[in-house]
Amino acid sequence: MKGLILAGGKGTRLYPLTYTRAKQLIPVANKPVLFRVIEMIRDAGIDEIGIIIGDTGPEIREAVGNGDCWNVSITYIPQEAPLGLAHAVKISRDFLGDSRFVMFLGDNVIEGGISSLIEQFADSQYNSQIVLKRVPDPEHFGVAQLSESGEIIQLIEKPKEPPSNLALVGIYMFDHNVFEAVEAIKPSWRGELEITDAIQWLVTHPDYTVFPYVHEGWWIDTGKPTDMLDANSLVLEELRPYIAGTVDSSSTVDLRVIVEEGAEIINSTVRGPTIIGKNTRIVNSFIGPFTSIYHDCVVEDSELQRCIVLEHSRIIGVESQLRDSLIGRHATIKQNRRKPHGLIMNLGDHSRLWLP
Ligand code: TTP
Repeated sequence: MKGLILAGGKGTRLYPLTYTRAKQLIPVANKPVLFRVIEMIRDAGIDEIGIIIGDTGPEIREAVGNGDCWNVSITYIPQEAPLGLAHAVKISRDFLGDSRFVMFLGDNVIEGGISSLIEQFADSQYNSQIVLKRVPDPEHFGVAQLSESGEIIQLIEKPKEPPSNLALVGIYMFDHNVFEAVEAIKPSWRGELEITDAIQWLVTHPDYTVFPYVHEGWWIDTGKPTDMLDANSLVLEELRPYIAGTVDSSSTVDLRVIVEEGAEIINSTVRGPTIIGKNTRIVNSFIGPFTSIYHDCVVEDSELQRCIVLEHSRIIGVESQLRDSLIGRHATIKQNRRKPHGLIMNLGDHSRLWLP
């Protein structure tokens, strides 16, 4: 089998972070989501992976390279514009050939890996296997309606009145017959070739069968900032803690904390699950659970809880606790102690700030 990862797209819902960085390279628990996806596919025994890239292609190529770090071979497939998930399949035909393949959205995180899913599909006669998850808000997803015996009746993209709460998770498995489907469908009202339409085409076709697998663990599409924070919390809970940096004797670091190489914890309290990145300094501060601070940051005289802080950022002397926040690269947050008081801001486009 081969792997196909979708890492094109614009990531508008994660502005301003995605003005300057590919969405798939934003770290969850200090590792880019895309790297987690590559590892899951590799761990399922697949070593030939195609990556769909768009405007952020150069950055993705630089971060991933030829795949040697993961012992896989990577082929980049440029997409002229984000014309839909089925369009991505269409342009990957040369790479995929006649192989069965798994397609994985490069911004999705799922509990427990995909090895069993891949095994099940590799040994089956199905032409496609889709992954479904019960969600509280199915109107925001592609939704599947199943018959009483568990067969797919229909798939609908973001239905106003969902026929079930079974959302399509961003992992799909196909054989080469999907190319017939993507050639047959037309762009939707939003101008995209929808993968739900291609799968629906296979469902309706008498010669093809699509198997619905209902995933019981967690799954997160990291489209919005709150999704990133949720994914971060869930992945942090799965990690095995270790301390490779230094913790001084006046600090308290609990059992579920990772302190990466070169990081320093000085006169501070860190509660897990939390990860402190390489060469980051935490001084006279409190770092609460579900926080990921990436490499080369400084947190001094401040309190953080359930935050993601990207590399080279500085949080200094902030009196209010920062919580549920996403802070980009090279950002500075500092208390202003001089008069006149008042807030001073230098925010990028589409930034959002919640004042107490
Ligand atoms: P989406 O989340 O649907 O789109 P997006 O990344 O452009 O985000 P936003 O809605 O915030 O603007 O895409 C899911 C994944 O698939 C994501 O990793 C981008 C990728 N993708 C492609 O590679 N090509 C495409 O044509 C589309 C639509 C998405």
